[in-house]
Amino acid sequence: MQVPCLNEARKRTKDKVLIQENLYQVNEKQKNLGIGKKYFVKTYGCQMNEHDSENISAILEEMNFIRVNHIEEADLVILNTCAIRENAHDKVFGLLGRIKHTKATKSVVVGLGGCMAQEEIIVDTILRRYKWLDFVFGTHNFYNLPNIIEKVYVQNKQQIEVISCEGQVIENIPVKRDNKYKAWVNIMYGCDKFCTYCIVPYTRGKQRSRLPFHIIEEVKNLVKNGYKEVTLLGQNVNAYGKDLNIDYTLANLLEDVAKTNIERIRFITSHPWDFSDKMIDVISKYQNIMPYIHLPIQSGSNKILKLMGRRYTKEEYLTLFNKLKAKIPHVSITTDIIVGFPNETEEDFNETLDVVKKCQFDSAFTFIFSPRVGTPASKMEDNIPLDVKEARLRELNNLINKYSKENNERYMNKTVSVLLEDYSSKKKDCLNGYTDTMKLVNVKSPDCNLGKIVNVKITDVKTWSLDGEIVK
Ligand code: SAH
Ligand code: SF4
Ligand code: F3S
Repeated sequence: MQVPCLNEARKRTKDKVLIQENLYQVNEKQKNLGIGKKYFVKTYGCQMNEHDSENISAILEEMNFIRVNHIEEADLVILNTCAIRENAHDKVFGLLGRIKHTKATKSVVVGLGGCMAQEEIIVDTILRRYKWLDFVFGTHNFYNLPNIIEKVYVQNKQQIEVISCEGQVIENIPVKRDNKYKAWVNIMYGCDKFCTYCIVPYTRGKQRSRLPFHIIEEVKNLVKNGYKEVTLLGQNVNAYGKDLNIDYTLANLLEDVAKTNIERIRFITSHPWDFSDKMIDVISKYQNIMPYIHLPIQSGSNKILKLMGRRYTKEEYLTLFNKLKAKIPHVSITTDIIVGFPNETEEDFNETLDVVKKCQFDSAFTFIFSPRVGTPASKMEDNIPLDVKEARLRELNNLINKYSKENNERYMNKTVSVLLEDYSSKKKDCLNGYTDTMKLVNVKSPDCNLGKIVNVKITDVKTWSLDGEIVK
């Protein structure tokens, strides 16, 4: 049994990151384990987790498990969890409660992985109260799922395998992509920023960049297989390469990925701290790098930004924001904002509203501060009453929605390019997809256009989406 440890997870060593090209393995016995059995993976959290679930699915399929879309039909259930806010925990414990009942009536193997598994307090709870859970694996361990699952089936006792502090990049894990046109591509793992509220540096470990060569090869293969879009993934992609010591940054990587001629390139998430002028130049130079930037601000108050450990001021953020708007034609910029951080006064909150008024973001994800055990902010007094936090969130959301709608209105009657990726759940006889600027559009179109990038004239505008018709 290997359980997580917060103190270990906090450590950052100067040890070189190991690039492992052959670590993942599945043997013949393990390949037989899944025969005749069905699996279901439930994913919570960010794009990183969605992509990890694509790896987990591929591993299970190499073991010959067959995917099902309903949890009730599965013989093996894996929850790939998120720890970013308390409500992420609540959702998982809610589902575990329901699964426990099912387990009483039928034989099903249940595993919990992802960021919650990296938390000491969660694994403690599992050991005490969830003895029926078959296995727990961390974010650094999922390459070892064949061994873990084999032990579960053979030994029939709870397996817990969570390493706290990991310094490797594993290159040979298979992937089963959920989308035929758009692909996630990890460019780095972990995070070294340690914003005071955030659990990610503890659950994902130290920053480790993949080698440029591996990333470019992956993208070239995607192009060969007909993919139209890649999203380069990392918790703080702007810091890409800093740990490689080879004088190669995100600007270099974006340029090399652009030269593969993949039609669309996106990247998330950008921390304002590492946004270089060279990056801005590269984004504006290449047509296939999308003019869309997610640039979390978190707060508009310098006092709160300092308490959050964000390493920029409101003024620096605004300077960067204005530079991006000036240099990248029709760029859209979205953000993340936390309200109710410890010591956030009415004036501090008003400063956040003020920045939102200045930036008029295309959209924003907004959150109430949620103390995460082990982070510095969880030791600060959580001194804003819940009703005040909720009122601030409502006021902020009203403002955000107003600007979302206004930004969308600028698209009325304009022609935009859209990658049609799915059937619209909202409108009959429509497909949907995103513009280069990441606006969701419902488009009247026959199915044969799925996977194509088409020109669309916008005919109607809502707060969260656009409607349009294909034009030549
Ligand atoms: N790496 C990204 C953010 C990843 S987490 C970045 O640095 O911007 C996504 C968002 O969740 C964060 O931007 C933040 O707004 C929010 N978040 C993170 N920790 C939180 C917490 N403890 N309480 C509330 N919101 C949080
Ligand atoms: Fe969390 Fe900050 Fe790292 Fe983003 S940059 S993942 S908010 S610690
Ligand atoms: Fe959640 Fe882990 Fe992503 S905490 S937001 S799943 S990195």
